[in-house]
Amino acid sequence: PPYYVGYFVGSLSEQSINRALARALIRLAPQELELSEMVIKDLPLYNRDLDGHFPKVAVDYKAEIAKQDALLFVTPEYNRSIPGALKNAIDWASRPYGENVIARKATAVIGASPGAIGTAVAQQSLRSVLSFLNAPQMNAPEAYITARPGLITPEGEVTNPATEDFLRAYMVSFFEFIERVLTVVPGPAR
Ligand code: FNR
Repeated sequence: PPYYVGYFVGSLSEQSINRALARALIRLAPQELELSEMVIKDLPLYNRDLDGHFPKVAVDYKAEIAKQDALLFVTPEYNRSIPGALKNAIDWASRPYGENVIARKATAVIGASPGAIGTAVAQQSLRSVLSFLNAPQMNAPEAYITARPGLITPEGEVTNPATEDFLRAYMVSFFEFIERVLTVVPGPAR
């Protein structure tokens, strides 16, 4: 440690409950984790015609991701899937072919929704994408946050102690997962 964790917020909304959730996770994370945002809102739509001459905003964005040890995805669910803005950002990070900066990063997925299933379907969809991009994922604990009004303040204060404990434990688990992923375990001699 410290381990550098880049976080993505899958919503562009000023009032995003997922941004509030991200702020809560930053507050509750073990001090060994240094979190910084991977900003997706200024990226244009990905177009493979730009491979090899990406705009500066995309070059800088990919360089930020490359510096991280781990990536945390905090995202809403849009129409039972990944919000377009987040998928676009992931597509930029994965290209040109052979220059996928998400590969081998320790990843975790979490999200909040006013709905009862708390982004579960979007998270499954995102997990498929991260699998394809060769990113090790924390499988458990899962975190599907049903965001009742006032559960998390815009500043990221969690008003329900049980939820606060859950989110703190989630970040401890992610810390331990990152440590395992970064630990080189020698394979059998061949
Ligand atoms: C939604 N919402 C939503 N919620 C959900 O649980 N499952 C879903 O499939 C969808 N689909 C969906 C599509 C679109 C286009 C919008 C704008 C919204 C509701 C969504 O959870 C709610 O707006 C959240 O507040 C969005 O998260 P942020 O932006 O507050 O972080």
